[in-house]
Amino acid sequence: MSMPAADVVVPERVRALADGARLEPVWRNGIGGLTFRTDDGRFIKWGPHDAETSMAAEAERLAWAGRWLRVPRVLAGGTDPTHEWLVTEALDGESAVSARWLDDPATAVRAVGEGLRALHERLPVDGCPWSWRVPDRIAAAGERGIRVPDRLRDHPPVDRLVVCHGDACCPNTLIGDDGRWSGHVDLGALGVGDRWADIAVAAMSTAWNYGPGWEGALVAAYGVAPDEERIAYYRDLWNAT
Ligand SMILES: Nc1ncnc2c1ncn2[C@@H]1O[C@H](COP(=O)(O)OP(=O)(O)OP(=O)(O)O)[C@@H](O)[C@H]1O
Ligand SMILES: [Mg+2]
Repeated sequence: MSMPAADVVVPERVRALADGARLEPVWRNGIGGLTFRTDDGRFIKWGPHDAETSMAAEAERLAWAGRWLRVPRVLAGGTDPTHEWLVTEALDGESAVSARWLDDPATAVRAVGEGLRALHERLPVDGCPWSWRVPDRIAAAGERGIRVPDRLRDHPPVDRLVVCHGDACCPNTLIGDDGRWSGHVDLGALGVGDRWADIAVAAMSTAWNYGPGWEGALVAAYGVAPDEERIAYYRDLWNAT
């Protein structure tokens, strides 16, 4: 996964953080934030303040989750009146949506599903300081001025409470040369919730990244029978918030 460097103006702040290292742009998110890889083993994430989550919140979660899981180690972070940034140590592996893995969806989807299962099994619910439970998500959306439809206020009974990734889209899983998940990134929304909140988003995102027909393989790789009611509910909640 990389972006045509010619299309990207390197922000002044990123240039300073690079401290002489060469920069390669790798990602642009939905609000114009950019991620760069440096040639000295770091990633620099920079972007406008995000109403949903802050990079400071992400840094806290990375430090916590890193006790049990392979996630980026935080090297530096900061904020100014308009933007924020996070510098992390590069993890091995390539995003599940790199050119290589887009060409091999069967391997990528299996890695994302197995990686999500491992994340849920390794992170301890007891002692996790953050919630991604439905009422908290609906309240947080309300604070951003989003009114969730009434029919979504009643959620299905919790199947299994886990520490959710919070943005389990395929690009946030890294895959090693062996075709297995090698790490997780983008943990800014991590918190306790029903495991189906993540499974539903991961399954839905296979269609965005690999085309139709991979949802079942994702759920199978996670290692459960599809729960259509919870998948539909958490997909709709994601889209509504
Ligand atoms: N420390 C790291 N090691 C390896 N790859 C990384 C690292 N940090 C970021 N990346 C890569 O950069 C991409 C963008 O990072 P990240 O997902 O954190 O940004 P984002 O802007 O929050 O993404 P989104 O569009 O999902 O909101 C990731 O998908 C991953 O491929
Ligand atoms: Mg991401």
